[in-house]
Amino acid sequence: MAKDVKLAASMALPPATPQPNVYPLSWHSHTAKLEEIWDSAQRENWDPKKLPWDSFDAGRYSWEQREAIAYWWTLLSVFDASAPSVFAAALIKTYEAHEEDPVRRCFFSVTRDEQNHEQICGLAITKLLGHPDQLTYQPKSEIGRKASRNAHWLYHNGGRYWNGYKAAVPKYSLAVLFSSFLMGEIAAVTIFHQMDTSKTSGVEGRGLIL
Ligand SMILES: [Fe+2]
Repeated sequence: MAKDVKLAASMALPPATPQPNVYPLSWHSHTAKLEEIWDSAQRENWDPKKLPWDSFDAGRYSWEQREAIAYWWTLLSVFDASAPSVFAAALIKTYEAHEEDPVRRCFFSVTRDEQNHEQICGLAITKLLGHPDQLTYQPKSEIGRKASRNAHWLYHNGGRYWNGYKAAVPKYSLAVLFSSFLMGEIAAVTIFHQMDTSKTSGVEGRGLIL
C-alpha cells in the first residue's frame, strides 16, 4: 500500500495492521515466574562507573600482566559488548511476536544488564591499557602483541557472528534463539560469583559479579 493513501477518508476503522509489527499494543501477563524475575531486576539499578575505580591501580602490574588481563576482558567483550544489541534485537522480536508482557520486560531487563556488562568491559580494558580500544592500541610486550593480533581476529569473527545473528533472528523462535544465550549467562554468573568470593574487595571483585 502506498504510504500516502488517506485511508481515513474512506474507512471508519483502519484495517488490521500487517504483521510482524509492534502494534497493536497489549499488556497480557500469564507467567508469575517471569513477574518475579522482573521484580528482582527492579530492586536496584547498578552503575559500573560507581565501582571504586580509584582503588584500582593498574600501575602495580607489569605491562605484560596488564595486557594479559586486558585480553581476558577483550575475550569477555566479544560476547558481552555485543549483547546489548543482540538482546535489543530480540526485544523488538518479542514485540513483533506479541509475546506476553513479562516476556518483553524480561528481555528488556537483560538488554539493560548487558549494557552494564559492556560498560565494565570497556572500563576495565581502558584502565588496564590506558587506551579505550584494543584495535588501535600499541602493545608494549610480546604477549601484548599476540593478544592484540587475536583481538583483531576475535572482533572480525564477532562481525561474522553478528551478520549470522541478524539473518537468524527473523527465522527462528525466541526459545530456539535464546536458550543457549541464557544458559551461557547462567554459567557466567556462576563462574564470576566463584571468582568474586576469592577476592576480598575492590573493583576487580565487584566487577566480576556484575
Ligand atoms: Fe553479560
